[in-house]
Amino acid sequence: MKPSPNLGPIGRAAAFAPSNIALTKYWGKRNSRINLPLSSSISVTLSELGSFTIVEPQADLRQDVMLVDDKPLDDAGLVKVRRVLDEIRAMSGSSLYAGLRSVNTVAAAQGMASSASAFAALATAASAAYGLRLDSAALSRLARTGSGSASRSIDGGYVLWQRGEKDDGSDSFATQRFAADHWPMRILIAHASGGRKSVSSTLGMAQSKTDSLLFRSWIERCDHDVVALENAIENKDFSTFADLVEGNALAMHGTMLAGQPALLYWRPVTLAVIAAVRELRKDGAECCFTIDAGASVVILCSPQDARPVSEVLSEIDGIEQVIQTRIGPGARLVEAPGGLPHA
Ligand code: PMV
Repeated sequence: MKPSPNLGPIGRAAAFAPSNIALTKYWGKRNSRINLPLSSSISVTLSELGSFTIVEPQADLRQDVMLVDDKPLDDAGLVKVRRVLDEIRAMSGSSLYAGLRSVNTVAAAQGMASSASAFAALATAASAAYGLRLDSAALSRLARTGSGSASRSIDGGYVLWQRGEKDDGSDSFATQRFAADHWPMRILIAHASGGRKSVSSTLGMAQSKTDSLLFRSWIERCDHDVVALENAIENKDFSTFADLVEGNALAMHGTMLAGQPALLYWRPVTLAVIAAVRELRKDGAECCFTIDAGASVVILCSPQDARPVSEVLSEIDGIEQVIQTRIGPGARLVEAPGGLPHA
């Protein structure tokens, strides 16, 4: 990439980025090095839950070093972080290595992926630390190279990640389609107890792509669902929204199940939550579920139904905690180091 003509000073910068929940899923890559997806996807950005990251380029460092929740980041994580930093260094013309520190307000152990917020916070803080002034499309592309779903955490509200066509990924980034207040919704995270996912999403996607009989029709379905869901959100049509969100998540898990070997993230509690949400909806509550690469279930519901739905879910055996949040704004720069909570 060309150096940016619009360079600011190099120095410490910090950012907060929220996590996001896909309403139609990204499950399948056309390029696994820079995370180009085979289908577009739509998500909502969460308020509060996410990652704070500080980046400080330093002349005396011989390599990039990073602490995550006060522990040194493992080698696999560092490879991805360096990929994002190398791209930023190429754009800024600086060869300085950086010291980084990140704190998650939602732990991976709570059943939620932290990679989306982590790489969106990294892209936002690091580009500012290296003096770049990038627009949200450029930040989304950068975040995407660390983790695909991170591309959707740069903007807030209802966000669309366009798959793009080009091999260099320049047209594969996410943008806001509707602000959070277009259709305020509550998000309940029903956290299933019993440890973290055993197969990473990267590995799971690769397995489904090569081994699942249903993979081709899964991708065709996503192309349809993205268009239909955008319409349902625009028209605030909850019944169509619920059918699409649930159907898309179930189709993704069906695609994994049809792989050889079959990939199953669910536990009995996952089905218990699905059954409870469907029962609640039959009784008139506006609520529907989605499930990522794990056993926990995320429920989207109207503000007035959030409390009764949450009470029912909390009673289910095997649900450790129900976290309630809303749709919020995207990644932003914060004061460094004052914006970083003590771990
Ligand atoms: O960006 P990754 O590698 O964490 O993959 C995310 C995969 C899902 O969460 C299952 C779906 C999605 O679109 O977020």
